[in-house]
Amino acid sequence: MNDRWYSEAVVYCLDIDTYADSNGDGVGDIQGLIGRLDYLARLGVTCLWLHPIHPSPNRDDGYDATDFYNIDPRFGTLGDFAELLHQAANRGIRVIIDLVVNHTSNEHPWFVSARSSPDSPYRDWYVWSDQEPADRFQGMVFPGEQHETWSYDRTAKSWYYHRFYRFQPDLNFSNPAVRAEIKKIISFWLQLGVSGFRIDAAPFIIELTEPGNPNSPKDFEFLTDLRQHVQWRRGDAVLLAEANVEPDQLVAYFGDRGGSGNRLHMLFDFMLNGRLMLALARHDPEPVIDALRDTPALPYGASWATFLRNHDEIDLSRLTAEQRNQVFEKFGPDEEMRIYDRGIRRRFAPMLGNDRRRIELAYALQFSLRGTPVLRYGEEIGMGEDLSLPGRESIRTPMQWSYKQNAGFSTADPEQLVRPVIDSGEFGYETVNVTAQRGDPGSLLSWFERMIRTLREAPEVGKGTCTHIDVVLPPGVLAHRADGSTGTMVFLHNLGPDDATVDLGSLYEEADLPIDVLTDRRYRPVGKLDELQVAGYGYRWIRLCRGDAVS
Ligand code: GLC
Repeated sequence: MNDRWYSEAVVYCLDIDTYADSNGDGVGDIQGLIGRLDYLARLGVTCLWLHPIHPSPNRDDGYDATDFYNIDPRFGTLGDFAELLHQAANRGIRVIIDLVVNHTSNEHPWFVSARSSPDSPYRDWYVWSDQEPADRFQGMVFPGEQHETWSYDRTAKSWYYHRFYRFQPDLNFSNPAVRAEIKKIISFWLQLGVSGFRIDAAPFIIELTEPGNPNSPKDFEFLTDLRQHVQWRRGDAVLLAEANVEPDQLVAYFGDRGGSGNRLHMLFDFMLNGRLMLALARHDPEPVIDALRDTPALPYGASWATFLRNHDEIDLSRLTAEQRNQVFEKFGPDEEMRIYDRGIRRRFAPMLGNDRRRIELAYALQFSLRGTPVLRYGEEIGMGEDLSLPGRESIRTPMQWSYKQNAGFSTADPEQLVRPVIDSGEFGYETVNVTAQRGDPGSLLSWFERMIRTLREAPEVGKGTCTHIDVVLPPGVLAHRADGSTGTMVFLHNLGPDDATVDLGSLYEEADLPIDVLTDRRYRPVGKLDELQVAGYGYRWIRLCRGDAVS
């Protein structure tokens, strides 16, 4: 039985265009990715999340599609994609794709037709207003780069709505034809063999936009409908959504019918992400403890997706201004490291001063918290960012495979590359690359492999409960536990720089030959749990006992 596979998955996200280029044209492609599946299998990931794969003018890195039924020709063909699904499945890896249907590119044939005439069959697929809407300058997602949410279109002689950039007109979800088309798109890719979707901008998909109303109503029933449709077409497909909303609204996105989730299976845990950043900045576990306490109870079948880094900025907007400033001071001290007044456009290793102990600590903590971990490509080798690139491109540089020219990403001329590789400094590809790390048991990459495999032997993390162990602990130390039918894991993470001794003797009764399964160094054996050492920035994953299911 492998239903709820997604609660035990390790998800790895990547952009095909910056991963591996097989034909030397400077752009990564599907064949290149197929060639790297063994690497991904060895790393232990079980699910790939591919950023948009459709044809696109690429003004927002593919989040502006012109054809939802096709593959960006730079990446290959639909045939290549089907082959990728087959090859990935052979290695036990599932594939989910970005479903970016809140909007299209303004070059999408639907929009081209819609704006051309009020009589176009696609006119009502977008959101129009004959008058300038009063909320024209409200609700921008990209402050500084986006100045309005309603723009005037001279050809259409009307205003159109765009929650994101002006070249991304919103589809009209009040129109049943649009809803039917979205279901058709979903069916198409499920039929081809994807295991689900990462739903882009979920809160805006359900928005029934009314010109002039910045708080337009939301139709959550559309999510119920999508879930049912997906599950009828493919029983084990998953919907993982981006919904960066207030915590009290989250439960509505999961849905709940008689205790079972009936809308989205998974949500990215943006709240936890912000709190983790704060905890790391302050060397203090309190924000994580708060996050665990504030987590709403989830209906059966619902899961969180945890992350430290994704393809966007680290979004600190859910922290208070003071908390945000603390994180900025530590991890984004220069103005050029920040974006949209709310985020940081850096990778993790440079933010932590390339300090191996702190990188391990941060990822060990993320992977041990409830839910399914999502890892961004390149983090497993400690890649850096290129702040000379605009906006979020700073963290979208090509994967660093080897010492070869262009980091082994492509054989094209360096000027032809989709984005420059990082080629100097401590994060340059001659220092940070897969080849250098794969044969070295002490490398960060080898550590990630070990950590991921250890996690996969502890399904209670994804499927069980996660609780803070509320005993008196030295400052900086977080103790939490995961309980499930497979047993109990106990975790110690020391966010502070000082060595500490922890007394977890109260757990002794429950323990059945407890052992360390992952640590930052060799410690004295666990023994009676009442004198556990944990070094500054150290961590210990301890298996306390095995459950009936595995004994
Ligand atoms: C989501 C994506 C982001 C994109 C935006 C518009 O927030 O994560 O990268 O720019 O949607 O589609």
